[in-house]
Amino acid sequence: MATTLRPTIPRDLGFVTALERDPENREFIGQWADDEHLDAMAGKAGREHWVIEHAGERAGYLIAYDTRGIDAGIYVKRILVGDKERGTGKAALAAFLDLACARPGVDFVWLQVWNWNVRAQAVYTKLGFTFLDVAPDDEARWQRVDPSREGVLRMRIGASGWRSRAR
Ligand SMILES: CC(C)(COP(=O)(O)OP(=O)(O)OC[C@H]1O[C@@H](n2cnc3c(N)ncnc32)[C@H](O)[C@@H]1OP(=O)(O)O)[C@@H](O)C(=O)NCCC(=O)NCCS
Repeated sequence: MATTLRPTIPRDLGFVTALERDPENREFIGQWADDEHLDAMAGKAGREHWVIEHAGERAGYLIAYDTRGIDAGIYVKRILVGDKERGTGKAALAAFLDLACARPGVDFVWLQVWNWNVRAQAVYTKLGFTFLDVAPDDEARWQRVDPSREGVLRMRIGASGWRSRAR
């Protein structure tokens, strides 16, 4: 069954926030106010909000920041699926990489993950993400995108590598 992405619309807000605030998910991801989701759905600050659909049903969501403006690649801020460990998260992130890495000028996609979130790290590694060390001189630039916290790891995948792997 196909896993696809479509832009999130305001009518999806209840679905998104119910998933995000579910006790099962709260420990893994940040918590946003409704307005932050609605702003991302509207594309404010270069953000993108996607609903993950599996077999035609809403299965989760993905939020991305387009950080090309500060030369730091496209940032996957959040990915969450309700029904876990059935391949949906990996397929959804692969679908996002297909569209993100096809954009002109995009060199890489990156994200941050708690060091104890081994399931998410497994998904990213299987797709080809590798752990990223940021040079101290570049740290301030990356912090502007999303301040790192203790225990958070950064991972990246090169766009050209993904494109050649995807073919
Ligand atoms: C992270 C998340 C999006 C992944 O989606 P998913 O549909 O559950 O993951 P998939 O089923 O596509 O893939 C899971 C993979 O991790 C592997 N895995 C699961 N638990 C693991 C563990 N403890 N150690 C190593 N690998 C593990 C599975 O074997 C599977 O790989 P396989 O398909 O090759 O067997 C989803 O689990 C989720 O929403 N988690 C809560 C929110 C979250 O953590 N978001 C990411 C924040 S950075």
